[in-house]
Amino acid sequence: MICVTFTSKGVDPNHRHRLGWTALMVAAMNRQHSVVKVLLEAGADPNTGDHFNNVYDTSREKGIHSLEVLVSREDEFSSRLSSRAGFRGCTALHYATLADDPRAVCMLLEAGANPLQTNALGHTPRAYAKDGEVSTILQEWEGKFKEAQARREAEERRRFPLERRLKEHIIGQEGAINTVASAIRRKENGWYDEEHPLVFLFLGSSGIGKSLSSFGFIRMDMSEFQEKHEVAKFIGSPPGYVGHEEGGQLTKLLKACPNAVVLFDEVDKAHPDVLTIMLQLFDEGRLTDGKGKTIECKDAIFIMTSNVASEEIAQHALQRNALTCLRICEHIDDVQKSDDIEISRHFKESVIRPILKAHFRRDEFLGRINEIVYFLPFCHSELLQLVSKELNFWAKKAKQRHDITLEWDRPVLDLLAGGYNMHYGARSIKHEVERRVVNQLAAAYEQELLPKGCTLRLSVQSEGQEEGSMPSLRLEVVGEDSSRRMLDIRPPLNPDH
Ligand SMILES: Nc1ncnc2c1ncn2[C@@H]1O[C@H](COP(=O)(O)OP(=O)(O)OP(=O)(O)O)[C@@H](O)[C@H]1O
Ligand SMILES: [Mg+2]
Repeated sequence: MICVTFTSKGVDPNHRHRLGWTALMVAAMNRQHSVVKVLLEAGADPNTGDHFNNVYDTSREKGIHSLEVLVSREDEFSSRLSSRAGFRGCTALHYATLADDPRAVCMLLEAGANPLQTNALGHTPRAYAKDGEVSTILQEWEGKFKEAQARREAEERRRFPLERRLKEHIIGQEGAINTVASAIRRKENGWYDEEHPLVFLFLGSSGIGKSLSSFGFIRMDMSEFQEKHEVAKFIGSPPGYVGHEEGGQLTKLLKACPNAVVLFDEVDKAHPDVLTIMLQLFDEGRLTDGKGKTIECKDAIFIMTSNVASEEIAQHALQRNALTCLRICEHIDDVQKSDDIEISRHFKESVIRPILKAHFRRDEFLGRINEIVYFLPFCHSELLQLVSKELNFWAKKAKQRHDITLEWDRPVLDLLAGGYNMHYGARSIKHEVERRVVNQLAAAYEQELLPKGCTLRLSVQSEGQEEGSMPSLRLEVVGEDSSRRMLDIRPPLNPDH
């Protein structure tokens, strides 16, 4: 009944107290079983964490006097909790455990509470359990939860292999995708060296998918660790230093997820001291944080990206591409697959290795990389796919925002693919589409030339052009009888036209 009233009145069961906790946490802490039940039935999330840390921190963060925070916590939450201990991230299950209440613990677990979830201090609920019934229940559910998780993940992998997941977002770069996917598969299935984490280095010029390939993985931007003192941000500062309590970005992450796939983006920008730490990480498969605690990460996968030697790789790939094309173009039209191009062993040894050595200044570092993955410039058919992807993106926006249907044909793709600049990669295609198509659309829209719900057709204007001049794009409105009317868009900078 209360539950019905709850939802029908539009009350959010996950609403937070202004100091950060939820009603479910209060009910769990205070053994109010009927309230726990009602809240769970109304959709309260048992896995959400407390935003309240301790009286002092909350008072500082919210700008409220500490006495007021203390009174509020005691009156409106519980007077049995320490005012100094840290509670950030504690879930209702942590609180039911603190209250040593087996019934509430079971109710929460049955409603899907995760017994493995840690609070900001890295403690699961069981860390707060007294010896006895609650501890036994939690231990039992932890086992069940781990098994269910592993089953879910295995099922997910079978249903949706990694390559397919990557290929949904990445055009081309098949060699790179296959290398990474097969290494991850080996690791997940136990076919790997158990003493070391897997380490990859992604090389290649700008805008060709190095950072994008880590889609769904954890990304760390290494340009944030250029200064010596930023090492502390990476692994946490030693006792007595500012930020000691917070811990480091990398150590926190690996503690929470020791088998993570972590992307160290633009690794060449990191300070040498940060590289030293990474070397330890790659070599020993463990890391010591600012608090002197060791974190094991032999099961992790690390991917570094860098633009070092990108010019050389692009030039080499282009030369080989030209050769391959000469060989095959006579037979098959439009076959220019980038995986036909291989970076020669000689080139890797005589050109790339010395550049990397000079840059990273240490052999051990290169020695710990399992595989260097080369990202190659796009070939023509991949450029066409990139252009299509961009046009589809804008067509979807046009439909959603303005109810306008956008159509185009193959020559448009060829024309826009011509805007490719090897130094900017896919970004140059994005810019070309924005410059030649989106700008025109926006101008036409602003000049009220686009009737609501209309269909627009993009095509290449070849007739009436001066000899030798670049073909341009034409934008026409398609009528119901398939007739076409060209839009007379005034250039935005020439209002008198
Ligand atoms: N292979 C690709 N397939 C699809 N889109 C791509 C591809 N490569 C790049 N892009 C597009 O270009 C953008 C930039 O790509 P990404 O961040 O991967 O570049 P990068 O190779 O890491 O370059 P940089 O060295 O400049 O960081 C992406 O957000 C994506 O939209
Ligand atoms: Mg990048």
